[in-house]
Amino acid sequence: MTKKKNRISSPPDRPLRIAIAASEAAPFAKTGGLGDVAGALPKALSELGCEVKVFIPKYAQIDDSKYQLHYSAEIGEMPIRVAGIVRTVHIQQAKIPGSEVDIYFVDCPHFYYRKHIYTSDRDEDERYILFCKAVIESLQRLRWAPDVVHCNDWQTGLLPLYLKDNYNWDRMFDGTACVMTIHNMAYQGRFPRSTVQKAELRENQFHPGGPIEFHGSVSFMKIGITYSEMISSVSPTYSREILTPEYGHAMEEVLLPRREDLVGILNGADYEHWNPDKDPMVPYHYTAETLDEKQKNKEHLINQTSLPFMPGKPLIGMVSRLVAQKGLEYMKAVAAELMLLDAQWIILGSGEDQYEELFQRIAAAVPQKMWAYIGFNNELAHLIEAGADMFLMPSAYEPCGLNQIYSLKYGTVPIVRKTGGLADTVWDWHELQAAGMETGTGFTFLEPSGYSLFTTVRRAIDVFDRKDEWRKIQLNGMRMDYSWEKSALSYIDLYKTAVLKKRGSI
Ligand code: ADP
Ligand code: GLC
Repeated sequence: MTKKKNRISSPPDRPLRIAIAASEAAPFAKTGGLGDVAGALPKALSELGCEVKVFIPKYAQIDDSKYQLHYSAEIGEMPIRVAGIVRTVHIQQAKIPGSEVDIYFVDCPHFYYRKHIYTSDRDEDERYILFCKAVIESLQRLRWAPDVVHCNDWQTGLLPLYLKDNYNWDRMFDGTACVMTIHNMAYQGRFPRSTVQKAELRENQFHPGGPIEFHGSVSFMKIGITYSEMISSVSPTYSREILTPEYGHAMEEVLLPRREDLVGILNGADYEHWNPDKDPMVPYHYTAETLDEKQKNKEHLINQTSLPFMPGKPLIGMVSRLVAQKGLEYMKAVAAELMLLDAQWIILGSGEDQYEELFQRIAAAVPQKMWAYIGFNNELAHLIEAGADMFLMPSAYEPCGLNQIYSLKYGTVPIVRKTGGLADTVWDWHELQAAGMETGTGFTFLEPSGYSLFTTVRRAIDVFDRKDEWRKIQLNGMRMDYSWEKSALSYIDLYKTAVLKKRGSI
C-alpha cells in the first residue's frame, strides 16, 4: 500500500529541472555572499544530475567579453510592461565558468545600467518587477517548464505570486513549485502602496493580514514566502532565529504559521575558488601538510600595505560589507582598546560612510597597526584569507557567512560572534578544551558587546603565542569540509518536497 502511494507521489524520475533566480551571481556580479551562493549552488546541483538554469539581471558592471555573453536568439525580444510602460528586454546568455550550466542575463539598460548593482532609486521596485516577469517569459519562450523555481531574497519574491496568478493561464507551469530562500531577513523589499499597480498585483489583496500587505507597505519578501511551497534560510541556527522578534524584523508573524515548511540549509564553499592549495590569487600555495608556506603569504600581503612586517605578531583580517549587521558597533565601542593589543589589522570593506570613516581614521592614527582598503577587491579578499593569522566576524546577526568558512580552509583562525551560520560553523577552542576536547576551530562569543568582542580577540592573541596549540586549531579548521555537495543534496530534498506539496501529495 505504502509503496504504491510513494510511487505515485514521488517526483519525476527524469532529472529535476531547477530555475534559480537571484539578483547577483559570482563571478559575473557580486556584492556579497548571495553572489557566491548563486554562482556555486547551480554547479553543485548540475554535478548531482539536475538540469539547472540561472537568471540574473544584466548589470552594467558585468564584463560581457570576459564571460562571452551572447544574445539569446531562442528567446528573442520581449516586450514587458512595468508601471504601465512597456520595455523591450533581451536576454544574454553564457555558461557559469567551469560548468555546463546556462546562465541568462535579463538585459534592460533602462533599469540595470546604473552606478551600483543595488540602488535606492525610486524605481528599485520596478527593476525587480521587470526581472521577475522576464524570468517567466524567458522560460515560456524556451519552452522549459521547471519543476522548481528557486527564488533568492526579496528581489525574486514576486515570482511565486506571478506563477500562481498573473501567469497561471500558462498550463506549462501547472507542475512548477517554488522555493524561497531567505539570505537576509533585514532586507524585505518594502515599497509603498503604489507598487501594487506598478506590479499589476490585486488591489483587493492589499489589506492588513492579506498576502501582499506588510505593515502598511508591499513586501516582496512576504509575497515570496507566502506563495512558495517551501521556504529555506541559509543556516539551521538562522532559520530558528528568524522566528523570533529579535531577528525576524516582524516577518516572524508570517513565518511562524509556516514553520513546518521552513528549513535551514548551510551554505557551502566553492573550494574550486577558495582553496589555499590552488587559489590563483595566492602566490604561495599550501595545505595542512605545508602550512609553513602561509607565512610567505603573510609577508606578501603585508608588503602590499603600509604596515611593517612583524612575523611574530598576529595579523587580524576582516573582509566585510561595512554595515551594522557585521557587528561594527561593537568594534567602534572598543576600537581604542583593540589598538592597544599586540596585533596588526588589515581591513577590506565598503559600505556605510560612518564605518568607512571609522577604519580610515584608525588607520591614519595608528598606521603601524591598521591598514584599511575601502572598496571592493576580490583579489585582496583572497590574499587576506591566505595571509592573515586570524579573521574577525563579530556580526550582530549572520544568516550564514562565508568568510569564516573560507578562513577555516585557509588556516586563518576565525573569531566570531555565536549567531546564525557563525554559530553553526566555528567551535570555540577554550569551550571545548574545558570539556576535555582539543577540537576547537576558532574563538566565539555570544554577548553582543564591545567588551565580549575585546576579550575574545585577546583570548585568541594569547593562544597565538603558544605555537603548538595554535597549529592544532588551524589544522582542525582546515580539516572541516563545507563543500557544496552536502548542501546541494539538502536542496534537492527540499525541491522534491516542494514538488510533492505543489501536487498536493503531502
Ligand atoms: P554577506 O553576504 O553578508 O556580505 P558573506 O560572508 O556571506 O557576507 O559573504 C561575503 C562575500 O563577499 C565573501 O565572498 C567576501 O569575500 C566578499 N566580500 C565582501 N566585501 C568585500 C570587499 N570589500 N571586497 C571583496 N570581497 C568582498
Ligand atoms: C547574506 C547574508 C550572509 C550569507 C549570504 C549568502 O548576504 O548576510 O550571512 O552568507 O547572504 O547566503
